[in-house]
Amino acid sequence: MHRRGFIFDLDGVIVDTAKYHYFAWKKLANGLGIGFNEEDNEHLKGVSRVRSLEIILEWGKASLSKEKFQELLVAKNEDYLSYVNQMNEDEILPDVPRVLSFLKRNKQPMALGSASKNATSILKRVRLLNEFQAIVDGNKVTKAKPDPEVFLIAAEALRIEPKDCIVFEDSLAGIQAANTAGMLSIGIGDAAILSEADYVFKDFTEISNDFLTTIIQSS
Ligand code: BG6
Ligand code: MG
Repeated sequence: MHRRGFIFDLDGVIVDTAKYHYFAWKKLANGLGIGFNEEDNEHLKGVSRVRSLEIILEWGKASLSKEKFQELLVAKNEDYLSYVNQMNEDEILPDVPRVLSFLKRNKQPMALGSASKNATSILKRVRLLNEFQAIVDGNKVTKAKPDPEVFLIAAEALRIEPKDCIVFEDSLAGIQAANTAGMLSIGIGDAAILSEADYVFKDFTEISNDFLTTIIQSS
């Protein structure tokens, strides 16, 4: 069997935390008198915390002092963590455990490639921390998706060439990052939003073990 590097985004791919980011950003934006809906939220998926706040301020044509900006980032994260701290294994997205254990049985290296600085604590909370050989998160990267840095560092950590890596992503920024890295990109979510991906599936229930085998064996 070939060895491929399988790189998973976290929020919205492994766990259903994308909705908690949405609730927290909506509260923050509305507090500044800036409208915020689910369509707006799509533009923030995969985007770092700092950049997300900059984008919201651009939409609202608002500017803040450095201190207020930092204060709001902290408040957003505290709000987000109040949801995360209630999480357990039930919030692992459907069929993620099946895919992880299939890849593990087939000795495929796996990494996390996430923009989140909360990645390790979330993985611990849902008891998946030990499933990955490498964790590359928001604490380890300097450039946010769509820059490919996060996935290139993950490939290097797995010692797999980027062209032999497969990325699972729910965000357009993440799909663009994977494509720029020269990796196979698999979108998880809405095909209209993730149209730049090599493949798109609604969720992991649509990704069969046969499909994974085909990917592993393709040259
Ligand atoms: C990404 C999320 O995974 O992580 C974004 O899609 C989020 O919504 C980003 O802003 C940073 O996460 P955190 O947990 O460090 O604020
Ligand atoms: Mg995501």
